Amino acid sequence: MSTKLIAPSVLAADFGNLQRDVEMVNNSEADWFHIDIMDGVFVPNISFGMPVLKAISKHANKTIDTHLMIVDPDRYIQTFADLGTDILTVHYEACTHLHRTLQAIKAAGMKAGVALNPHTNINVLEDTINDIDLVCIMSVNPGFGGQSFIENTYDKVKKLKALITEKGANTLIEIDGGVNDKNAKKLTDAGADVLVAGSFVFKSDDQKATISNLRKVANS
Ligand code: DX5
Ligand code: ZN
Repeated sequence: MSTKLIAPSVLAADFGNLQRDVEMVNNSEADWFHIDIMDGVFVPNISFGMPVLKAISKHANKTIDTHLMIVDPDRYIQTFADLGTDILTVHYEACTHLHRTLQAIKAAGMKAGVALNPHTNINVLEDTINDIDLVCIMSVNPGFGGQSFIENTYDKVKKLKALITEKGANTLIEIDGGVNDKNAKKLTDAGADVLVAGSFVFKSDDQKATISNLRKVANS
């Protein structure tokens, strides 16, 4: 069994102390930085854009996992590669030509991820799963941190795991939204490989200890 990974979501960081919070993640047991980019069109919120990601990349010393919640993401693939993104995730619901988008992400030297909204069935990925490095199952409706976890997610993880096994794909399963120490083990037991956690990490008193404990629970 491979190690389950923790990706703190910088959306929940203190932007007035961004460098401090990035260093906290650098010095913690976290595996990746999760970066949420929202355009106010695909989702009803605007987070931050390129200059902020540039500042994060300058200090971050771990894998940068960028989650684009934007329409027509093809416009910015090269930009996100230039800003230091290692894994670029686009939304299934935002891509008219998903296969072409995945090829373009890889051609730009990044790993290619696809995120699914809570209402989107796993089976829409049947024909592309072998081209996808990571599937991000949204366990909340995208747009905001701090929402409650949707329980139906466990079934989706199992369904996706079965699809990956059936197709012999080499795809990581990431869960994004409402992750905490209560649902982490059930998620990894169901087949999740990467857990994104925003509020649970950054709103806690001892952030490094929270990351360490979440990672322990996820791998127990
Ligand atoms: C939601 C974002 C998430 C969010 C998770 O649209 O994609 O990555 O930051 O935050 P929490 O862990 O607080 O639900
Ligand atoms: Zn996200």
